[in-house]
Amino acid sequence: MRALRPSSTADQKSGPPPVWLMRQAGRYQREYREIRERVSFLELCRTPDLAAQVTVFAVRQLEVDAAIIFADILLILDELGLGLRFEENHGPIFEKPVRSLADVDALPEVPVHENLAYVGKAIEIAVKELGSTPVIGFAGAPFTVASYAIEGGSSRNFTRTKCFMYQEPVAFERLMTRLTDATIDYLKMQIACGASCVQLFDSWVGCLSPFDFDTFIAPHMKRLFDSITPLSPSIYFGTTTAGLLEPMSATGPDIIGVDWRLDLDRAWSLIGQERGIQGNLDPVVLLSDRATIKSHASRVLEQAAGRPRHIFNLGHGILPQTPVDNARYLVEVVRELGSR
Ligand code: CP3
Repeated sequence: MRALRPSSTADQKSGPPPVWLMRQAGRYQREYREIRERVSFLELCRTPDLAAQVTVFAVRQLEVDAAIIFADILLILDELGLGLRFEENHGPIFEKPVRSLADVDALPEVPVHENLAYVGKAIEIAVKELGSTPVIGFAGAPFTVASYAIEGGSSRNFTRTKCFMYQEPVAFERLMTRLTDATIDYLKMQIACGASCVQLFDSWVGCLSPFDFDTFIAPHMKRLFDSITPLSPSIYFGTTTAGLLEPMSATGPDIIGVDWRLDLDRAWSLIGQERGIQGNLDPVVLLSDRATIKSHASRVLEQAAGRPRHIFNLGHGILPQTPVDNARYLVEVVRELGSR
């Protein structure tokens, strides 16, 4: 995947970095909202033509260097029988959260990659339409997905998740193993359908201490990246991970995704200059004006200092109230500043 696998040999400035934005397809777009008036979010994810359409539209509207397939990290839990629904202004809710060893053992043995074949179909359609623009596949990382399974929805401090991890270590381990197996199969299917790169969203892993990450999470992530690395480049993204970057990076992804709470040059000094970094503009910057966007984008580029293994992105998903013009301007200004 040329656009997102920057060369690791040269250290000189090599033009602007590739740029795309997390959650680049979503409610901030009028065209997306119009589709959502007709179909629910889950229907949209499960209809390959429509999912591909919003994926491709975001690339054309923003003129970014990569697509990310339109889907969600929680679909896999619905296949595992947890009963996912999205309530207006309420986020995701699971009917049957996982709270005991018996709950983990009761998870059905289903071929998740077959049940989620509609995501693969959407990738095939998007790849065909986009030609040389790479399509990124993705999944939630097992910890972040487990946190939704255990909490039964979104959470602020992950108390239930951590208590389960500490007090039911056997059950937690078994849940992580099940989710890791399912995620590997799911990502292999996406790669077989044409994804040129995969991103693991571990959005909430930053709630853990380095010791807990090494003890409970790292072995699963190592196994996951060992399985995926021969097939595709990978991005491992999390937020508030300043204290975890070294152990995260040691699990084996090609690229680490970081948020704005850590300067990029500092991130590189933690994980080694040879590894790729994706990030890290604060998405709130896109709610301001052009001059502010330009100065913040310029600061990110200065910290990246033309390193060949930088992918420009936000530090977390684009916010629903973002003006489309500001997102377009960011992409434009990254190209302009990056080619100086
Ligand atoms: O364009 C893209 O980036 C691809 C699509 C994508 C979505 N979700 C679509 C979506 C991706 C990559 C995700 C990942 C995802 N989903 C994460 C990890 C990234 C992150 O934000 O930390 C998480 C934690 C989820 C779980 C999730 N999905 C929640 C908590 C919610 C409800 C809150 C919200 O933002 O609405 C969703 C719904 C969701 N996923 C929407 C979209 C476009 C909004 C649905 C709608 O109302 O149309």
